[in-house]
Amino acid sequence: MSQVTIESVLQEGRVFEPPAELAAGARIGSMDAYRELVARVEADPDAFWGQQAREQLHWFEPFHTVLDWSNPPFARWFEGGSTNLAYNCLDRHLQGPRAEKTALIWEGEPGDSRRFSYRDLHTQVCKAANALKALGIGKGDLVALYMPMVPEAAIAMLACARIGAPHSVVFGGFSAEALRDRLIDGGVKAVITADGGFRKDKAVALKPAVDQALADGACPTVEQVLVVRRTEQPTAMLEGRDRWWHELVEAQSADCPAEPMASEDRLFVLYTSGSTGKPKGVVHTTAGYNLWAHLTFQWIFDIRDDDVHWCTADVGWITGHSYIVYGPLSNGATTVMYEGAPRPSKPGAFWEVIEKHKVSLFYTAPTAIRAFMKSGREVPDQYDMSSLRILGTVGEPINPEAWMWYRQVIGHDRCPVIDTWWQTETGGVMISPLPGATPTKPGSATLPLPGIAADIVDNEGRSVGIDEGGYLAVRRPWPGMMRTVHGDPERFRKSYWEHIIGADGRPLYFAGDGARRDADGYYWVMGRVDDVISVSGHRLGSMEIESALVSHPAVAEAAVVGRPDPLKGEGIVAFVTLQAGLSGDDTLGSELRRHVGSEIGPIARPDEIRFSDALPKTRSGKIMRRILRALAAGEEVSGDTSTLEDRSVLDALRG
Ligand code: WTA
Repeated sequence: MSQVTIESVLQEGRVFEPPAELAAGARIGSMDAYRELVARVEADPDAFWGQQAREQLHWFEPFHTVLDWSNPPFARWFEGGSTNLAYNCLDRHLQGPRAEKTALIWEGEPGDSRRFSYRDLHTQVCKAANALKALGIGKGDLVALYMPMVPEAAIAMLACARIGAPHSVVFGGFSAEALRDRLIDGGVKAVITADGGFRKDKAVALKPAVDQALADGACPTVEQVLVVRRTEQPTAMLEGRDRWWHELVEAQSADCPAEPMASEDRLFVLYTSGSTGKPKGVVHTTAGYNLWAHLTFQWIFDIRDDDVHWCTADVGWITGHSYIVYGPLSNGATTVMYEGAPRPSKPGAFWEVIEKHKVSLFYTAPTAIRAFMKSGREVPDQYDMSSLRILGTVGEPINPEAWMWYRQVIGHDRCPVIDTWWQTETGGVMISPLPGATPTKPGSATLPLPGIAADIVDNEGRSVGIDEGGYLAVRRPWPGMMRTVHGDPERFRKSYWEHIIGADGRPLYFAGDGARRDADGYYWVMGRVDDVISVSGHRLGSMEIESALVSHPAVAEAAVVGRPDPLKGEGIVAFVTLQAGLSGDDTLGSELRRHVGSEIGPIARPDEIRFSDALPKTRSGKIMRRILRALAAGEEVSGDTSTLEDRSVLDALRG
């Protein structure tokens, strides 16, 4: 858990009403309107979702059943219907003046910039879709994207959706090893990548990691690699397997009708870390995901036609999928994509983008806000950010200090701060203020969106009382929910739907987060209750990092825990026992950190490695992480330690 403590939450008494000007024109412009909407959905959820789906999406074939929940936890939404996400994001905006409206503004790190109207983007996506077809990719074939933040990443995602080939986007910061695992698990047929990308003023190669992942026939299903030229670094191309995007795509026709997809056809797979085993391939399907990305974007940003929306996430994460690409484009909005990040040579990089493109909706992570706080308000104060209307945050709990700073320094007390709670698994936002309706409190995600049957419960699924901690859960399916774990439906059931069974025998969706609710019904998300560590809002499983460590020949055993970090939310501490005869020192520590970096990616590198002769275990051999967490945080080990097998281990670990 990061900075949000129960004490800070209970002391938090500040409330900020929505600005009157914003409430006046809003879709949901008061708490009464919010409650009325909630009541309408509760009275007949199927009728509500059915109406939304019909009104908000284009259908080739209408659906006949809104929800089939006869075989929980496997939900089927909008059965009988067919639609296409790329059609909803592009084609339907081409009639009338919106065709010439800017769909995508892209800002490259070295200062280059590109702009696509809806018509331009449609043309590019059609060409890319035809290129995929030319490579033999068709409906149902899984395509991996391993890309920097360039427009071609969004174009490739939409091209896949257009022809019904599900995509599996792998964050470009993951290592070749991590990429290989995901290519194998998915049975991926083609990879779209780039020669490299720009990061912190430097060109960083990407294609060699793809070569490495595919080396020695490790991924036999991968037949084709399509390479975008971005950095113009010298790039080895394998004859017969690798093709340049600019050669293949540009030569294609711009005529490519969108493939009608059944509502429950697989749309994409996106890997995320859980508490056990390897990362899970979260599966989302066509219509439900589309509706949820569309509707939540409309609700939480109360989108207006002249808005410019900028979400600072990477397209390699769900936030990038739902709120850089699909949510904004499905709504016909203008979305900004930025390749860079604030860096010593350009500390005001974000504010420059806001000023230059007159961004009105800004969506970023608490980690970024805390980093800005640290470098002081002098930086943002140099920029004109009067275009801003709404400020969003996502990814980890936001501490009230960072929330206040965001509101005051970036929003000049004018813009509501929208703290949005959700997950890769939920497809889109679940708990969030509505900017024209919900009074906000610093550090609270406030209330569930209409139709979301969220609750805070105990092990038996009973709602807990006011200000009592419990598990964040959802009682009813929603359109954007994940449908399964790729290749492992049993794991889907076990990970999410078996922890909490209600008194009526029905399973609840278990999110893996702890939360509490105050007297106003406001939700305060406290952090993960499982062994997932959230580093700068990136989810990492302790077990993944432990497996990476023990794959090093010097390591006998490893246990990894998170510890509170003032900037990153959580940092990673690894307790390592070495093979007999070896002793740990700084050199080996650095070597192990590097090793984890190459097994998973730089974000997974432990902040600290502590060598020890033994780890605290129960008599049955289970590592007692609770104790390690306390030790990592420098706290006293409290609670019951009677099950500890060897108490002298504790003293040794204390150092
Ligand atoms: C955490 C990112 C507190 C939480 C969209 C969740 C949050 C995990 C918030 C999902 C928030 C996300 N307040 N915690 N507003 N938003 N989280 O799958 O622990 O990368 O379970 O999805 O991030 O991370 P994921």
